[in-house]
Amino acid sequence: MCGIVAYIGPKDATPFLLEGLARLEYRGYDSAGVAVAGRTGGIKLRKVKGRVADLAAAVPARFKGTTGIGHTRWATHGVPSDENAHPHLDNAERIAVVHNGIIENADELRARLSAEGAIFRSETDTEVLSHLIAAHATEGVELEEAVRAALGKVVGTYGIAVLDAEQPDRIVVARNGSPIVLGIGEKEMFAASDVSALVRYTRQVVHLEDGELAVVRADGFRTFTEDARTTHRQPSTVDWEIDSYDTGGFEHFLLKEINEQPGSVERTLGGRLDERFATAHLGGLNLDARELREIRRVKILGCGSAYYAGEMGAQLIEELSRIPAHSEPASEFRYRNPVIEADTLYVAVSQSGETYDTLAAVQEIKRKGGRVLGVVNTVGSAIARECDGGIYLHAGPEISVASTKAFTSTVVAFALLALHFGRIHDLSPADGRRIVSALKALPDQIREVLDQSDAIAELAAEYAKSAGMMFIGRVRGFPVAREGAQKLKEISYVHAEAYPASELKHGPLALISPELPTVALVPDDELLDKNLTTLGEIKARSGRVIAVAHRRPEEKLADHCILVPKSEPELDPLLLNIPLQLLAYHAAVALGRDVDKPRNLAKSVTVE
Ligand code: AGP
Repeated sequence: MCGIVAYIGPKDATPFLLEGLARLEYRGYDSAGVAVAGRTGGIKLRKVKGRVADLAAAVPARFKGTTGIGHTRWATHGVPSDENAHPHLDNAERIAVVHNGIIENADELRARLSAEGAIFRSETDTEVLSHLIAAHATEGVELEEAVRAALGKVVGTYGIAVLDAEQPDRIVVARNGSPIVLGIGEKEMFAASDVSALVRYTRQVVHLEDGELAVVRADGFRTFTEDARTTHRQPSTVDWEIDSYDTGGFEHFLLKEINEQPGSVERTLGGRLDERFATAHLGGLNLDARELREIRRVKILGCGSAYYAGEMGAQLIEELSRIPAHSEPASEFRYRNPVIEADTLYVAVSQSGETYDTLAAVQEIKRKGGRVLGVVNTVGSAIARECDGGIYLHAGPEISVASTKAFTSTVVAFALLALHFGRIHDLSPADGRRIVSALKALPDQIREVLDQSDAIAELAAEYAKSAGMMFIGRVRGFPVAREGAQKLKEISYVHAEAYPASELKHGPLALISPELPTVALVPDDELLDKNLTTLGEIKARSGRVIAVAHRRPEEKLADHCILVPKSEPELDPLLLNIPLQLLAYHAAVALGRDVDKPRNLAKSVTVE
């Protein structure tokens, strides 16, 4: 949510800033801006409502400077507009600030600064930072001292980068709840909110900790805490490939990421299957078998698709280990004074590892003495660091706002966890082997579904203009229906409802008509007959049915059928979900939507 880039070195900063912002645009994309400073004095600033491409078009050729900061925004305080776009300046136009996060005491600071003469030009909380830092940047005070003193008065979350026209030999960055990473180059330095902006320039990075600041110069950096203690940070090497951040010949990141799933699932499974004991090795759990046996319940927390992946995870855990498991939106959990139990294992799910609601839920559980594992894609992210242990997905960077490969890898990670739990409890070696073989077969089975992309595109084109769509599934199929509906809504803006198939006749059957098609999950399992009865009820009301099934239902029960290879029943949901990703993708393309950057959304939601 919002992206930050910064550069200092011998070159002109602007090309890096614009390219870096384009790479971060998936984090927020309603306005963008850059500010540079150099030897000639003063700050040059351009900011516009719209996309990074609009900003690039507005930046004149003479817009040059060797030190610069940039920002791409997802609005929280104030509408998307030129004025509300970052960077924000103080009245003397000496200090420029870009900021991710929320300043909670912005109103109070704004009132105080206004009384002292500051004139505010935007509705943002960020603008208080530029005035506040300027107020501390008095004669002889180093920029890093002014920033540190200013942040001492701030309540809230932030990742910031600060530029000073009078000290253009440095940039100051700070992190508290919103990531900042430094990139170390050859006589040049970079900073960003996300490594994806840096990997073209350097693989050597330093992730700041919460409560840490850095003063960054062309030849190096110094990190220190809010109470001015110097910290010593060793750079780490980014191991994700550069081409992970490009569309690689696909029309959209989303299509690329859907197609990457055979490989990302292989990486999630990599080295974790133990054929000898028919179980899974999960080194990062930090819980031994004895501790795991003491767990009586599992509570899974995540937001949006992470919550739905958690629902699939809960079913896997209950089925394979017979430990009661339940998934709940982290965004609700944290507001209801939850009861935290010593014998419950809490599991936080997050692709980005940054989602504020999930992070706050983890912090609440830990504050009350609970034990939390993370199922996270982004290594070293805030949620991963906050948890007591966990499973990294290794799905690779996910750029498109809609989650696909991380969703699938999350379910695979839960299958590994469920297998591990199950084999510590009563899951037989034979059942363990059954799950191990099924997991190994997944990548090829996913490829089989992906091969149907063209046929699914035709179906999507036929149905994309529907007034809405119903998604139904029973028990294991219900979270699949929820995720399918979510994906369609998110990227095509077609309204979609997900219902347990068993609930249809308790109300929503009234909606069924030829104008409201139904996508039905029809696995060949113990509930097949029940599902076929539901299809009959829909057809009897002239509803149109797209069945996603292992076996083609009779023609009178379904207008179309997408066939999916059969796995073991516990793992079937994972494969049934893949065609729904393609259906949503092709519907969005058919409707001309901005597939990778759907309206009103951003990749990681780092605000409440
Ligand atoms: C998924 O397609 C959505 N963009 C959204 O629901 C997302 O899953 C949710 O915001 C949680 O994100 P996280 O996994 O990064 O925590």
